[in-house]
Amino acid sequence: MNIVILAAGLGKRMRSRLPKVLHCVAGRPMLDHVIGTAQAVAAGRGGPTRTVVVIGHGAEQVRRAFSDRGDVDFVLQQPQLGTGHAVAQAVPRLDEAWPTLVLYGDVPLVRAETLQRLLDGAGSAVGVLTVRLADPTGYGRIVRDWHGNVLRIVEQKDASDDEKQIDEVNTGILVAPTGKLKAWLARLSNDNAQQEYYLTDVVAQAVAEGVRVAGIAAADADETLGVNSKAQLAQLERVAQARAAAAVMDAGATLADPARFDLRGELTVGADVFIDVNCVFEGRVSLADGVRIGPNCVIRDCAIGSRTEVQGFCHLDGATIGANARIGPFARLRPTTTLADEVHIGNFVEVKNSQLADGSKANHLAYVGDATVGRNVNIGAGTIVANYDGANKHRTVIGDDAHTGSNSVLVAPITVGAGATVGAGSTVTREVPAGQLTVARAKQVTIRGWKRPVKKK
Ligand code: UD1
Ligand code: CA
Repeated sequence: MNIVILAAGLGKRMRSRLPKVLHCVAGRPMLDHVIGTAQAVAAGRGGPTRTVVVIGHGAEQVRRAFSDRGDVDFVLQQPQLGTGHAVAQAVPRLDEAWPTLVLYGDVPLVRAETLQRLLDGAGSAVGVLTVRLADPTGYGRIVRDWHGNVLRIVEQKDASDDEKQIDEVNTGILVAPTGKLKAWLARLSNDNAQQEYYLTDVVAQAVAEGVRVAGIAAADADETLGVNSKAQLAQLERVAQARAAAAVMDAGATLADPARFDLRGELTVGADVFIDVNCVFEGRVSLADGVRIGPNCVIRDCAIGSRTEVQGFCHLDGATIGANARIGPFARLRPTTTLADEVHIGNFVEVKNSQLADGSKANHLAYVGDATVGRNVNIGAGTIVANYDGANKHRTVIGDDAHTGSNSVLVAPITVGAGATVGAGSTVTREVPAGQLTVARAKQVTIRGWKRPVKKK
């Protein structure tokens, strides 16, 4: 199938330097949603897929944002003379053996099932996706005859008063046989109120040639909504999030409030997962059976094992966490951190690029960076792994069952042996032997008979 996505328009009302189609919905550019949905539909129908995006305003930025996508072609439309002119720019790239599906880059939430229905309804003829709106102002109207056959589409600015009463509108999404579409596009004129080459005029040409035009109605208006302003972007974000919440609940998760759940990536959930309010999930996150996430967490690219509990206000990024662990409240995990089963990371603890084996704990106010930590280690309150010498980062290795006292500093590179204890307040810079108590702090002294100074009169 050929896919043509129109994305050359200016998007002036966004008031942004970023081209409109690069604004994100659910963490992905709008254009990425459209490409993804259309390609998934095309793949399902078999045959080769050609995807052509028509760009104009901000063309280079759009091209760059998708430069790693070998399966998407870009054509420049300069100047922008209307939607028909836009599709005409893509024509040389289209394969006449397959139909052409036209979509808009700023209508991101159209469903795959809806496109399927449009393609099935059109068959080898023309299909137009329509929707009925309580207020159709501004849209092209679908003009049908007494039998309900689609005759043509008339734009708001060209419509008669009677035509303006029609509440069935053109969503802009259309499918047509490619060879015929090429011929119709070549014959478009711009003799209309906006002096543009309207794609919508191909409908009347099809009808004149006796080619059937199926007007297929979208199930709900949400999926045909376009974005022209930040307010509409926010509205579509809510639509996308309501869908994401519904999908996560379908998969079995309990959401404390689906209206306070944000997914900007992919979330997979096991059975009996509970997610409290105001959590944001980004990238790829998986939550195994029985995981509980407290309120106000940000979780990006993490895999969390069964029955682990993440308490409120945690920021977890790029971490792999085992089963029955307890994280937070107020914990921060940074990329390439691996926590094994039953690890506890408590409040105001930051862990970066470290591995903690089964049962180890850092319950309060600690920094653990570039460390390999054994089993059942207890990292005391206020422990700092000083991994950075101002120029380079170094590793720390802490053996099984070691304990570090409160407010200790382990200056890397350093090894703390298995079963070692570091006394509270110690700054250790050399190897800490296994099984011993090591104290590295000034000795406590008491000055007997010392008199506290008194104020001179
Ligand atoms: C268009 C349709 C109208 C429909 C409405 C749905 C035409 C003539 N009209 O109207 O029937 O109800 O969409 O929203 O097709 N674009 C280009 N190059 C251009 C012009 C537009 O790439 O030269 C792109 C825009 O970036 C946008 C899309 O095409 O993504 C639609 O353009 P827009 O100007 O919004 O069309 P409307 O006038 O709203
Ligand atoms: Ca529009």
